[in-house]
Amino acid sequence: MKYGRFSADGLEFIVTQPETPAPWINYLTNDRYCAIISQTAGGYSFYRDCRTDRILRWAPDYKNFDRPGRYIYAREVKSGAKNKKASVWSLTYQPLRVKPDSFECRHGLGYTTIASRYYGITSEITYFVPAHEDCEVWLVTLTNDTNRERRLELYPYVEWLMGDYHEELRYRNIMNLYNRMWFDEAHRLIWGWKTAFWQGMNIKEFKNYGFFATDLDVKGCATRKAAFLGRYNTDEKPESILEGTFTDTALCSGEDGIACFKSIVKLGAKQSKEFVVILGETEGQAQALKLVAKYRDLGHAKKALEETKALWRQRICGNIVVKTPDKDFDTMVNAWVKYQVYICNLWSRSPSFYHEGSGGRGYRDSCQDSEAICSINPDLTRKRILHVASLIRRDGTSAPGWSDTSGPAAHRPNKDHQIWLTATVRSYIQETGDAAILKEYVPYLKDKWVGGWEIDRNVNGGAQIDGEGTLFEHLEKNLNFCFNDVGERGLPLIGHADWNDAIDAAGKGHKGESVWLAQALVRSLRFFAELCALTGEKDKEQEFWNKARTVTERVNEAGWDGEWYTRGFTDDGRAYGTKAYDEGKIFINTQAWAVLSGVAQAAGREETVLKAVDRYLDGKHGLALFYPAFRKFRPELGRISMFSEGTKENAAIFCHAAHFMIVAYCMAGKGRRAYESLCKLMPNKQKDYDVYKAEPYVYAEYLVGPESPYRYGEGQFTWVTGTSGWAFMAATEWLLGVRRDFEGLRIDPCLPPDWKKCSVRRPFRGDIYEVEIENPNGVEKGVVELTLDGHPVKGSLIKPVGDGKTHKVRAVLG
Ligand code: GLC
Repeated sequence: MKYGRFSADGLEFIVTQPETPAPWINYLTNDRYCAIISQTAGGYSFYRDCRTDRILRWAPDYKNFDRPGRYIYAREVKSGAKNKKASVWSLTYQPLRVKPDSFECRHGLGYTTIASRYYGITSEITYFVPAHEDCEVWLVTLTNDTNRERRLELYPYVEWLMGDYHEELRYRNIMNLYNRMWFDEAHRLIWGWKTAFWQGMNIKEFKNYGFFATDLDVKGCATRKAAFLGRYNTDEKPESILEGTFTDTALCSGEDGIACFKSIVKLGAKQSKEFVVILGETEGQAQALKLVAKYRDLGHAKKALEETKALWRQRICGNIVVKTPDKDFDTMVNAWVKYQVYICNLWSRSPSFYHEGSGGRGYRDSCQDSEAICSINPDLTRKRILHVASLIRRDGTSAPGWSDTSGPAAHRPNKDHQIWLTATVRSYIQETGDAAILKEYVPYLKDKWVGGWEIDRNVNGGAQIDGEGTLFEHLEKNLNFCFNDVGERGLPLIGHADWNDAIDAAGKGHKGESVWLAQALVRSLRFFAELCALTGEKDKEQEFWNKARTVTERVNEAGWDGEWYTRGFTDDGRAYGTKAYDEGKIFINTQAWAVLSGVAQAAGREETVLKAVDRYLDGKHGLALFYPAFRKFRPELGRISMFSEGTKENAAIFCHAAHFMIVAYCMAGKGRRAYESLCKLMPNKQKDYDVYKAEPYVYAEYLVGPESPYRYGEGQFTWVTGTSGWAFMAATEWLLGVRRDFEGLRIDPCLPPDWKKCSVRRPFRGDIYEVEIENPNGVEKGVVELTLDGHPVKGSLIKPVGDGKTHKVRAVLG
């Protein structure tokens, strides 16, 4: 693979050239502190929320040159040189970009190690975020590979943002005026601080402190960026380093701030030296001082690195393990997609090198992320379910998201949000058997949204609690809202948008309806009926089956265009995603969800729909979101028609939606198609990384679609995407088909016919099931023989043994 490779165990991705086609990044994080880092140490850190508490500076265009970051400049004055000529470099290639003699970046689970060699000095920096602490640690080893003594000047360096990223983007030169950065002589560290926290008229005291420290002997320090860089320079050409003019600036007040130390390190022939750099943010200074004291102790820092590595390994490797004829598939499923699902669960969709970093977490994204993680960490799902449920109002609507620092998002709900939590709760109960969660009491939300399209601007203060009810009641209200909030065809109103955020004008006039949302509603109504059966509420169960049937009939009547399902209706009643519409004729969502919801099966249309998808949406880089792309602005649909053809929601290969289809293929028994489609999207199966450009170890939100004028196949918006969750579920629950169910583990693989043997190690309800799947006749689906510990089992369900032991399951397809 050009630019890098996986380690033999698949748990590291080793980048072998510093200038990859785009920054290839990693997330070093616990659930409060997060550092995003590229292969050359570019990126930023934040504390609790990537908008309100950004620590390091970063801006969207930095994606192109991947600076600033977490750097260590090195400088060596050649002994005896007349005019003090110096060699200068940066240990991570960036920002000076001097050509290294060797370079390697190893992105691992919870750490990144960047190694380089310059002028006979090898350096290795391992960056990590300790499991439970509000800081990051850089563990550095320098080795003198030569036989002469070396005297190096070292300059660990970061650039502060400190505070609200959005305000910074809008009012940078005003935000700088609040800056105070200073060297604390007594504690030998640099503080990063702002006088106040300012969001619109919401002004608060800034109680958090950034801090930067090292265990090196500090000989100098700089806090003022302008003074450090020199006139008209960037961090690629800092005058202090290049010209040797470093001057102490112990206080930065009201201007751009940095943190940089000067240290001198002497290395004898073949000698090594280890040291640490610590960066973090805490509420108040006392905690920061404790962290600095702790991690300045090299032994402690090293121990913390080992603990962090062990924790991530346990999280990722200690659960589902698959073995198939496809090694790339196994690498993704056993390590990287799980890791990506974890990161999505921790930080949702906001912090990345692509996203706008608006902070907080989205409602629908969180529901899907926490559903996906429930087979590897059901406790996390449980917590998330109860939190998300507390965003539901008594009228059944949901707040669109929340932030850990500023609470529930107080704007209009998307009309699809109401259907997602039911699916997550169902999966969680199937996974754990914990139906008691339905009886948990959860508060209702009272906030600015007062129903319909209105926001009550007179409501002061934050969200409030509006009494409480059981989780079951919350879900029921959620679904009833969606069931009743319909247009003239009886299909749900699309309002501000549905799953597709960019169809944001079709329902502006409160009339546009969504066929996709109707299908998704059917699925959740059916799921809720199943939950009613669990709680023994027979009448309600019947009521929800009836509701599901009613909506199914409406979709099959109003939403069918003869060969596929229409996408929706605009405010003025025009159907789109249909033959008669000149662009955007066929959308994948309504075909995939017709199968996922059972709507297509109810009308005997499954095969017709699948054919239409093959014919119009498939291509060499995967399944497109729709066809054809919009070439001109459609005011009746909105933003979807504004993106460049083939990008984002305008007919990209939108991997999240493509995985809806992959699950649909599996439900329909099409193993070969499911696998083919899956392979085209896999980041480690791309044919040309100069075309694909993105990281080969995590999924992209989309690949640029076939109608792009020149970028077809380019991976975009990596890491924080619902793709990871659906890819994981598609692979484990559907393709390999070892699937949670209320009564036990369903064994229902849907394989590519040339997979003759595969296995899944599946922890389930306290036991471990080692499932061997055999496919001697090369079929795609259909278990004909099933045994549990050698005893034949009828049907396809393994009931949990419940003894906490490992059990052997053998399934033969035929
Ligand atoms: C992004 C959003 C997701 C949305 C999708 C389609 O991935 O995070 O919530 O469903 O785009 O618009």
